[in-house]
Amino acid sequence: MSPSQRTPAAGPIADEPADLVDPLFWSGPHGDRVETFERLRAQPHPVLVQQRMAGLSSAFGYYALVKHADIVEVSRRPRDFSSTGATSIVGLPAELYEYYGSMINMDNPEHARLRRIVARVFGRETVADFEAVADRVARQIVDGLVARGPGDFVRPVAAEMPIAVLGAMMGIPTEDHDFLFVRTNQIAGPLDPAVASPEEDSNALVMRASQDLGDYITELGRERAARPRDDLITKLVRAEVDGEKLTRQELVSFFILLVIAGMETTRNAISHALVLLTRHPDQRELLLSDYPKYSAGAVEEVLRFATPINWMRRVATRDCEMNGHRFRRGDRMFLFYWSANRDEEVFADPYRFDITRAPNPHLAFGSLGPHFCLGAHLARMEIGILYRELLRSLPGIRADGEPRRLRSSFLEGITELRCTF
Ligand code: HEM
Repeated sequence: MSPSQRTPAAGPIADEPADLVDPLFWSGPHGDRVETFERLRAQPHPVLVQQRMAGLSSAFGYYALVKHADIVEVSRRPRDFSSTGATSIVGLPAELYEYYGSMINMDNPEHARLRRIVARVFGRETVADFEAVADRVARQIVDGLVARGPGDFVRPVAAEMPIAVLGAMMGIPTEDHDFLFVRTNQIAGPLDPAVASPEEDSNALVMRASQDLGDYITELGRERAARPRDDLITKLVRAEVDGEKLTRQELVSFFILLVIAGMETTRNAISHALVLLTRHPDQRELLLSDYPKYSAGAVEEVLRFATPINWMRRVATRDCEMNGHRFRRGDRMFLFYWSANRDEEVFADPYRFDITRAPNPHLAFGSLGPHFCLGAHLARMEIGILYRELLRSLPGIRADGEPRRLRSSFLEGITELRCTF
């Protein structure tokens, strides 16, 4: 995913709302975001945002989908609303297609074919294996934290959990975890000053990191094809549906999707969870009082509050109507999950963090439709198992100070967070 490596917008056109896909909007004061989306949700129809964007001669226009019901409707109508370029703002540049032209950015019939191949690999048996791995990894992470004492929470805890679980499932050696961590950070946050210096060309940085990951998986795939093992990469290079196999490009782009979608999102949910449990001591006490009873609800409420992916893009494939609004063929729209997860028509008292909230139909994993997150079960499990181990060994663990947020409009990322116990 390389959605935010464009130069920040050159500014709004008069009387238009802020550019909601500009990283600067998301890294601004939290209250501005709350107020902007509240105002947009109060409008009867999706609002057309027009921006002047650096590098584009004409205004860049898109519809902001901010209501829960609109995102549900658009997600379930892939024939009317295309996912081509879903993770990019202006569309996927041709040179990045090799790395990002994966299922999340695709429509049928290509999408269905790929999803069939990989869904088999992510079947029931694999998920049961994931659980045993997640148990072991969580214990190792927590033992390490106890031994080291208070300090950095992001790299050794939040990021390590998904890297080590997916890494173990894919048969990636532990010594390569840092390689993955650095490359996925560069792809997820090329505009963040902590990731790249302002003089660095963000597009070139993303390209280099993508090539590194592409070379890495090509080599690993070759190696597993020659010497099969009991791991996910072996299953992927051997997976076949109706005699069809993944091509090299499909393996590369699926691997990049897995490491970004699987690692950058879950890690942020884990960091947000510590911040939320620290800021809401009553909810934390409730969770500690009976973890098995409250953990599933706590994970869902963390996902709703954190919304680790802020948006996906869709494009209307034809003139059509959606919840009383008419779209023209070619209209772009962004599905703002962060806003839908605070829609007052769906969530009573939406700014209250409540681990007993039921029902909790949040859209952190997207809405039901062909692209609903393939790793939702895995992500829920990783968060639940890690916190079970953390709170069992360190019931006093808390965030120490404020988190530092990633400069990105796409990911609700936390780059720095310290913990104390
Ligand atoms: C908290 C963690 C996660 C969040 C918030 C998240 C969120 C999302 C969202 C919003 C979508 C797009 C839905 C759409 O376009 O309609 C998606 C798709 C996807 N996710 Fe996740 N995800 C998470 C974890 C994972 C994990 C752990 C994996 C795999 C290891 C994963 C793999 C995927 C894949 C492959 C897709 C594309 C599915 C398709 O296009 O058919 N995700 N995810």
